Amino acid sequence: MQNALRSIEGVDVEGKKVFLRVDFNVPLQDGVISDDSRIRLSLPTIKYLLERKAKIILASHLGRPKGTRNLAFSLAPVAYHLSSLLGQSVKLIDIDDAMSSTTSAALENGNVILLENLRFDAREEKNDIAFARQLAELADVYVNDAFGCAHRKHASTFSIASMRESYAGFLLQKEVSFLSTILYSPQTPLVSVIGGAKISSKITVLESLLKTSQAFLIGGAMAYTFLKAQGHNVGNSLVEPEYIETAQRFLRNAQEKGIRVCLPTDHIVSESIDGKSDTHYIEAIDIPDDLIGLDIGTKSIQAFILILKTARTILWNGPMGVFEIPAFSNGTEAIAKAIAQSDATTVVGGGDSLAAIKTFALSGSFTHTSTGGGASLEFLEGKTLPGIAQLVYNQ
Ligand code: 3PG
Repeated sequence: MQNALRSIEGVDVEGKKVFLRVDFNVPLQDGVISDDSRIRLSLPTIKYLLERKAKIILASHLGRPKGTRNLAFSLAPVAYHLSSLLGQSVKLIDIDDAMSSTTSAALENGNVILLENLRFDAREEKNDIAFARQLAELADVYVNDAFGCAHRKHASTFSIASMRESYAGFLLQKEVSFLSTILYSPQTPLVSVIGGAKISSKITVLESLLKTSQAFLIGGAMAYTFLKAQGHNVGNSLVEPEYIETAQRFLRNAQEKGIRVCLPTDHIVSESIDGKSDTHYIEAIDIPDDLIGLDIGTKSIQAFILILKTARTILWNGPMGVFEIPAFSNGTEAIAKAIAQSDATTVVGGGDSLAAIKTFALSGSFTHTSTGGGASLEFLEGKTLPGIAQLVYNQ
């Protein structure tokens, strides 16, 4: 069972400077934010602190500028957007300026500033203690609401937390609560829908979910490694040969525990992955030579949906096919819609699933949509995330 987090709720922050680590690593297209979910989902913590008259110093990374001051990764568009969301000025401050000047000392109750991209300084990702101390000295209290990078052991996500009173923000708490429920105490049956390209990136999650799932629905290219492991012909589909034994072991373990593992029984195939060659429907498990499986077929969709209807909890991580290309998007769309319409508790994680939800206009249709890509995967693997470990009560 996960340990309880120290919540910011009820902490007296009036007049105090609060260093609030958020994950504003949002996608930008030509300098414009194309998805502001991570910013919006941090608003409850920001507003809570504002209502309680704190002085807020927001801090985030954006992209991977690798320790250089590359303005393509500036948080300026975020500061601008956040100002309009909050209806008050959010000034962007260079970290060096914040540390050397009187900026933070001059903050008044209810003010909000945003530090420039923490990764402009190479010491952030190195978890440099002196850098963490300099950041800590800007504030009286540390709050972490950055679930998306809780798996990173960086100065602002890890070391700083032991240098000040430290608490979890509301987004971080919500993420931990939903994902912990999946890992430790879901309402059963729990159906885990796992897709994506590679079994190598999901096998630890799959194995971890063997503890609580009653059924797995497996799609995406990773399904072909499983089908190959069962002795099927998968044509030219993506297979990770070095994971065939791992797949066999997983299937054996699931069988021993009486857990259903459903793999595609029909496919949408083509000679190439780019959607430029003809596509065909194969109404069989085996795929002819030279063809690549790129989406699950209608029989598989129906079978998956029947199982989803039995679920009281559904975890979805990873698409069922190459959904970015319309010819191969049907499986992911149908399964996403079935999950969205389910009465079960539905938890979605992973960058590709989030992109799919957006493509199919299903945002807001799930009980919980995790803001973490790598973080939610590592959490579901059962790992202790550094950013979270610092905020549990018994530390
Ligand atoms: C994410 O988007 O997954 C987080 O913000 C972490 O970013 P990173 O993978 O660059 O550390």
